[in-house]
Amino acid sequence: MFLWGTATAAYQIEGATGEDGRGPSIWDTFAREPGRTRDGHTGDVACDHYHRWREDVALMADLGVNAYRFSIAWPRVLPDGAGAVNGRGLDFYDRLVDALLAAGVQPVPTLFHWDLPQALEDRGGWLNRDVAELFADYAGVVGARLADRVPLWITLNEPFVHMAFGYAMGLHAPGHALMTGALPAAHHQLLAHGRAVAALRAAGARQVALTNNCTPVWPASSREQDVRAAEAYDILHNRLFTDPVLTGAYPDLSAYTGDLDFVRDGDLETVSAPIDALGVNYYNPTRIAAPTDEGLPFTNAGITGHPTTAFGWPVVPDGLRELLTGLKSRYGAALPPILVTENGCSQPDVPGPDGTIDDADRIAFLDGHIAALRRAMDEGVDVRGYFVWSLIDNFEWAEGYHQRFGLVHVDHATQRRTPKRSYHWYRDFLRAQNTDT
Ligand code: FCB
Repeated sequence: MFLWGTATAAYQIEGATGEDGRGPSIWDTFAREPGRTRDGHTGDVACDHYHRWREDVALMADLGVNAYRFSIAWPRVLPDGAGAVNGRGLDFYDRLVDALLAAGVQPVPTLFHWDLPQALEDRGGWLNRDVAELFADYAGVVGARLADRVPLWITLNEPFVHMAFGYAMGLHAPGHALMTGALPAAHHQLLAHGRAVAALRAAGARQVALTNNCTPVWPASSREQDVRAAEAYDILHNRLFTDPVLTGAYPDLSAYTGDLDFVRDGDLETVSAPIDALGVNYYNPTRIAAPTDEGLPFTNAGITGHPTTAFGWPVVPDGLRELLTGLKSRYGAALPPILVTENGCSQPDVPGPDGTIDDADRIAFLDGHIAALRRAMDEGVDVRGYFVWSLIDNFEWAEGYHQRFGLVHVDHATQRRTPKRSYHWYRDFLRAQNTDT
């Protein structure tokens, strides 16, 4: 069964950050620091999904998706990151899983979507190798509770973005600006992934995947300097997080770091444990030119000549085909089946006088990307699922509530949910799939 779904993440929708024994996460801390998020927005309330989850499951049942990718908040399950398990936190996800199954929607949980328990950040966060082991313990706890009903698991969401924004540039929690000093946070996340694969399988999980943020990289010109810079960017954004998992080796990182002394014997065997699918989040390609300053080995040259989203991201549907076929030619037989675990766009989404939201640009975006997905499949890429980011408008990290990605509009003052025109479009699309097959 091809999975047609939608996606969300815990900190972006749940709210209730102090309820039922949940411990603080790095995003609670970061969002409270002045100037970190636009207008000081936090996820304290978010979409109040922790209380309104029944309504959100009903929206999915009505939409007709057969899968839902959500994330489990580590600090709800283990408020201190390790040690005592908070039963009430697990109960929440247990109820959610049962409600999804009853609605005919396959739950696809992600174990880490950036909300590290603050107690672990106090021990160094992902710069501390021990966190990889603690993640596996957490995966084992959740697996023991849910693996009887959850067939497919995702360990981490976008370790690249978490490393680059959270540890290299300081734009996301935990807010470190270490530049290439952030690389251990990449390795320890990948190690955590590998250890969690084993822990989940031991708990009875049948299928385990990792979700990476991937981008086709375009050199700004055919000049050698630009081509070389594009290769460097491709290594840091794409290959650093996929090569070790699929091939058991890091790409050549000698241009960015000294020896990889944080990689120990046996680590790469753990990292490259077989997975059942590779999750790919695609938003846009990246155009790269030679560096203009001493800091980084590339410059982001920007993409013009394409429509842009409210975020300013270029809309390049065929980039999804390019990305997927590129993965197949790069990894060949080592590439497992692919799940597009996120794809979508932010749009202004202002309700009209009658309250409806006519998001024609989002419909065009999704239609174009699904067509590109089909082209990739026609070219032989084994794709098994596609998840729209996102089900509902939510807390968009440093942008707070300013970027709306949902198929469903959320009035953040009242929490009222209003399906947009794209929701109805996706529903009709899904119905047509069911009639076709
Ligand atoms: C991805 C994140 C997701 C959301 C989208 C817009 O990088 O995984 O949480 O913020 O971008």
